[in-house]
This record gives sequence, structure tokens and C-alpha cells, in this order.
Amino acid sequence: MFEILAISGSLRAASTNSALLAALAANAPPGCRLTVFDGLGRLPIFNPDDEGERTPAEAARLIEAVTRSHGVIVSCPEYAHGVPGGMKNALDWLVSRDAAVGRPAMLVHASPRSLYARAALAEVMRTMSFAMHEEAPLEIALLGKKPPEVELILAEQANRRAMREAVQAFADFIRA
Ligand SMILES: Cc1cc2nc3c(=O)[nH]c(=O)nc-3n(C[C@H](O)[C@H](O)[C@H](O)COP(=O)(O)O)c2cc1C
Repeated sequence: MFEILAISGSLRAASTNSALLAALAANAPPGCRLTVFDGLGRLPIFNPDDEGERTPAEAARLIEAVTRSHGVIVSCPEYAHGVPGGMKNALDWLVSRDAAVGRPAMLVHASPRSLYARAALAEVMRTMSFAMHEEAPLEIALLGKKPPEVELILAEQANRRAMREAVQAFADFIRA
């Protein structure tokens, strides 16, 4: 069983990125289990002085969840042409450890825009030595949609198939 950690870069209750990850979890193919990390908003702001023995509990939880996983899937909005602070902060806690090194990772997209954030996130994660699966990224356009419509779009047969196939392709990448 591949254990995959899913991280949403949005803290909004009605987040389209979080909804996409929840739907990916619900549509994962056999042999893959997605768990959504729920602690992004509780992470203290990264400070290199607080590493090692002083690592805060929430950061330790994140580091352990990434380390235990076979791979990581990130869905993240763009704020002012950048990666939202909460997402970058979470990644910063993972930089000077082994958690990211060689760990398979994939970005999925809930917005057809966000091109700056996509590129920046991929660059940051590559620099951290995540093994990025960058072929045919999954994109389901949920930008600006309210939760009832988001649910309808994510329940469409074609989108459910696309989600299952994206996670299957990631699992094949992990296996290879
Ligand atoms: C403060 C702020 C800044 C934003 N800046 C951008 C931007 O530069 N480019 C873009 O494509 N979208 C931008 N957006 C739109 C969000 O990326 C978009 O609404 C996204 O779908 C929100 O994700 P969520 O539903 O998961 O919270 C911005 C939104 C906010 C709140």
C-alpha cells in the first residue's frame, strides 16, 4: 500500500485546493491511500534556531508525516504571483533534514492560472531534492467556484477518472 501525504497550500475553509485533495483521496486507485495533512496553519514560523532538539511539536509532526509517506502531493494557490507563506513555511521546516531528499512529489492544480506559484513551488521542491513527477500534471479548474459547484465538478465522471489516473501515474512513478 502506497501511503501518500497530501498538503493543501490554502487555509480557507472553502478552499478549492483542499477540496481537490479530498476528492483525490476519495478517488485514489487500489493500493494507494491519501492522507491530508491538517496542521499547516498551526506551524510556527520557521526559525533555524528551533531545529534539532528544539523542533516544535507541530513541525515534528509534519516532518514525521512526510518521512513516513511514500510520496507527497501538493495543491497550492498563488498569492501575488508567489507561493503562499504558509506553504513555503511548511517546506522551510523540511529543508535541512532527510525528509524531502529523494521523496517522490507531485503538484496538482485547482486553478488554470497560478503559473508563477506553480513554477516557484516546483523550483523550491526540486532544490530541496524532492523527486518531482512533472509529467501531465492534473488540473481541474475550480477557481472562483463555491463549494456546491466544486462538489459537482469533482463528482463528474471524467474528472473522477482523471484523478484516479493521476494518482495511479504517481504510484507508478514511486514504484519506478
Ligand atoms: C491575497 C490573494 C492574492 C492572490 N493572487 C493571485 C495571483 O497572483 N495569481 C492568481 O492566479 N491568483 C491569485 N489569487 C487567487 C487565488 O489563487 C485563487 O482564488 C485560488 O483558487 C484560491 O485557492 P483556495 O480556493 O484553495 O483558497 C489570489 C488570491 C488571494 C486571496
